[in-house]
Amino acid sequence: MSNQGNRRAEIIGVGAYVPPKVFTNFDLEEMLNTSDEWIQQRTGIVQRHWVEGDIGTSDLAVKASEEAISEAGIDKKDIDCIIFATLSPDHDFPGSGCFLQAKLDLPGIAAFDIRQQCTGFIYGLSMADALIRSGQFKNILLVGAEVHSKGLDLSPEGRNVSVLFGDGAGAVVLTAKEAKNDEDSQLFRHNLHADGSYAKELWVAAPGTGNGPSHRLSPEMMEEKLHYPYMNGRQVFMHAVKGMSRSLTQTLKEQEMTVDDVDLFLFHQANLRINDKVGEMMGISSDKVFNTIQNYGNTTAATIPIGMRDAIKAGVLKKGMTVAMAAFGSGFTWGSTVMRY
Ligand SMILES: CC(C)(COP(=O)(O)OP(=O)(O)OC[C@H]1O[C@@H](n2cnc3c(N)ncnc32)[C@H](O)[C@@H]1OP(=O)(O)O)[C@@H](O)C(=O)NCCC(=O)NCCS
Repeated sequence: MSNQGNRRAEIIGVGAYVPPKVFTNFDLEEMLNTSDEWIQQRTGIVQRHWVEGDIGTSDLAVKASEEAISEAGIDKKDIDCIIFATLSPDHDFPGSGCFLQAKLDLPGIAAFDIRQQCTGFIYGLSMADALIRSGQFKNILLVGAEVHSKGLDLSPEGRNVSVLFGDGAGAVVLTAKEAKNDEDSQLFRHNLHADGSYAKELWVAAPGTGNGPSHRLSPEMMEEKLHYPYMNGRQVFMHAVKGMSRSLTQTLKEQEMTVDDVDLFLFHQANLRINDKVGEMMGISSDKVFNTIQNYGNTTAATIPIGMRDAIKAGVLKKGMTVAMAAFGSGFTWGSTVMRY
């Protein structure tokens, strides 16, 4: 990681937003031929928030960003870069970071989109950290936001995937600070991984130029439902447990820490059973894991910052605590971060 003196990145503001409309498991029973019992037992999800009407991903991001900026106590004009993690952008191009930048009225500043799905926030945090350490940017707005509900197969055929996902956004503001030494740094360490040989175990095929000689999107592709997510749930489950636990073990080891040094674990929220399994394998006591899946379902790149915001509001995450984050998602991608909040 490149370095400029003792310049380090520090999270100074956290925000989140979910659309007001709640869909409980009971609301989905008729639509998707599912049951509250099945969903709760297999996943831990009780409800999720879905947008209504003319709301896109960057609209949710605006609200989360405004809260993060206000919590940071800086003038938004001091932000010099946006990193936007999403798998459900407003449009194919340009990136949602550009739409967010215009909606926040911050013309001219850099705007990246990154596409690491459920690991998007961890990848984004690592990027923001490196960009601030390098001296390229001073104040970065990192956002994870998703509108899944407009991209799900809401027929009984899509039930295995559609019950899992919720809409929402989370954001953090990172700023540069001069650290006295390594211990004075807030973001300790990240590790990032991917294995593209599993790309098609959790993906959306269309629209895309990889679908043979035809156009990116055709009526035939829509007939085949290629524009809806496909997931091999068992493969994802297995690799998620392995990926998150290995990544976190590696990060802690490199930082010369053990799970006992960590005050709070903020895991990605894909399935409560995945997190329970990771906790069990690593010997983490369950009262140190902050789960939110029951309220929101899987909000992909938004999940970890939403969890941070909720943990702060609940008084569970306090300044000075050591926090470990780990995520796994489509790609496959996975990674972890250890930091002091
Ligand atoms: C999706 C998941 C909960 C499914 O659990 P599972 O125990 O693997 O269930 P299966 O897919 O084997 O399906 C078991 C049965 O439930 C049924 N089923 C699937 N979805 C259902 C739903 N929403 N409601 C009711 N029944 C459902 C299946 O049809 C199957 O029925 P059958 O036994 O009669 O064929 C689980 O695989 C999982 O959580 N995987 C990881 C998902 C994930 O993390 N995704 C996001 C990654 S970031």
